[in-house]
Amino acid sequence: MQPHVHHFVCSRPAKGTQVSSGPHRWALTAAVLACAVSSAYAQPAAEDLYQRANAATCASCHGTEGRTTQGSAIPAIAGMPKADMVTQLKAFKEGTRPATVMHQLSKGLTDAQINSIAAYYASLQR
Ligand code: HEC
Repeated sequence: MQPHVHHFVCSRPAKGTQVSSGPHRWALTAAVLACAVSSAYAQPAAEDLYQRANAATCASCHGTEGRTTQGSAIPAIAGMPKADMVTQLKAFKEGTRPATVMHQLSKGLTDAQINSIAAYYASLQR
């Protein structure tokens, strides 16, 4: 069976790669490569969503975007430098920093989640 390039929704074959003139598999390769490139562009959006979804689990206590109301017993975390937050969350997770609720919460986070969450809050204004 002949490959039909027009079945690829990601791209049309570039000039000189028509199925009729060149070896068929080159046209196919060009189309597949174009698909791979365009899905790479979609990645920042997925990463962003992953980050926000993780960070949202903190909002119920630390406030929307990490800002607590004045006089709150819970510390604000917006604008906390990334390295500091990673250190604190790991200290909670390992139990080396005393806590009431953060031990339990941090135990549910992977290192990748901790890094992602810390980067998010570091990017926000205090
Ligand atoms: C159930 C409420 C609650 C939730 C949910 C919560 N925290 Fe906390 N957080 C606290 C409290 C209370 C403290 C003070 C330490 C303690 O008693 O556990 C704290 C302390 C912290 C600190 C230390 C702040 C400082 O100034 O040193 C960080 C960092 C932190 N939390 C990050 C997070 C992150 C990130 C999340 C989401 C993954 C989160 N917290 C979810 C209640 C919460």
